[in-house]
Amino acid sequence: MSLSTVLSDHPIASSTFALVGAVFVLSHALSFVKLVSQLVLVKGKSLKSYGAGKGAWAAITGPTGDIGTAFAHQIAKAGFNVVLIGRNPTKLGEIAEQLKSKYKVQTKEVVIDLGKPTPEAFEELRSMGREIEINVLVNNAGVSHEMPVYFSETEDEELLSILEVNTKSTLLITKALLPPMLARKNGLILTIGSFSALVPSAMLATYTGAKAFLERWSQALGEETKEFGVDVRLVLPYFVVSNMSKIRRPSLLIPTAPAFVRATLASIGQARGAAGRPYTSTPYWSHAVFDWAMGTFGLGGQFAISKGLAMHKDIRRRALAKKARLAKSQ
Ligand SMILES: NC(=O)c1ccc[n+]([C@@H]2O[C@H](COP(=O)([O-])OP(=O)(O)OC[C@H]3O[C@@H](n4cnc5c(N)ncnc54)[C@H](OP(=O)(O)O)[C@@H]3O)[C@@H](O)[C@H]2O)c1
Repeated sequence: MSLSTVLSDHPIASSTFALVGAVFVLSHALSFVKLVSQLVLVKGKSLKSYGAGKGAWAAITGPTGDIGTAFAHQIAKAGFNVVLIGRNPTKLGEIAEQLKSKYKVQTKEVVIDLGKPTPEAFEELRSMGREIEINVLVNNAGVSHEMPVYFSETEDEELLSILEVNTKSTLLITKALLPPMLARKNGLILTIGSFSALVPSAMLATYTGAKAFLERWSQALGEETKEFGVDVRLVLPYFVVSNMSKIRRPSLLIPTAPAFVRATLASIGQARGAAGRPYTSTPYWSHAVFDWAMGTFGLGGQFAISKGLAMHKDIRRRALAKKARLAKSQ
């Protein structure tokens, strides 16, 4: 019996199938229209609403890395004074000088090794948060594995440092700076996540887990602080040209750090590719389309995880060969 005969014999069932199909297609078409409108038409919340140009401050962790430096410059250019939080005083001083001379803003530096922080460092931030109006916090500092590695072979030191820098320090810095934002009913907390939490990255398991932690934590925090006027967003990059990604040239799917940060600051409050995932945003246009397609067509499952494992095995093989060559030449 053909399908058309079955359907004509069961008009109620066939109408139900047609209705479900139409709703499915329509809802995905609408979410695609929303994505495109956020990418090209609708602007995100203005930085002015957090006090840009009115003497307010923004604190940025990891401002010495590629994405962090781009945040520091673009946030200073928007009119915020900047608190630079990092472990290398020389590099922090150089960035502070650039911001002061280029954008005529004030800067403060807080030296913390986020892998081995002391309670005093968080206390310094807490009292700074009481003295100056820090309305924006960018939790950007992050560290990944030196190279892809099986979890069972990961050095304890590497594993613990990934957790300390990416998660524990992020929590304690946020906790130090959040209360005055809540009291003023104004604040923005951006935390940089990763696609490796969206599609779990085998052989980067600890990094994946740490970024997944940040995602769920941001979502819970965002709901808690919304009624007190503090906006929280987990910002998702796929690859970005940087020291960490070890990618030097931009391409369609891999923006430069300044391009990624421009997209982030232009789309505050928008989900873009992360539609349906609260307090989460995929700001860069090609990442957003990729994220939307993965969510819509279910592409982020077993197939993507297996492809990632194959890719990481190959990266590890080449990284070990390079390390051996370097050791031989010394
Ligand atoms: N690039 C990508 O493709 C990509 C993709 C997904 C997510 N992300 C995320 O984006 C964020 C920025 O990464 P990036 O690509 O700009 O990497 P990056 O250039 O390597 O920058 C990392 C930043 O984190 C700081 N940091 C690392 N360990 C630290 C520690 N123990 N104490 C204090 N600061 C520490 C670094 O400081 P030093 O200068 O002192 O080393 C640097 O400022 C990270 O959270 C990363 O996980 C990046």
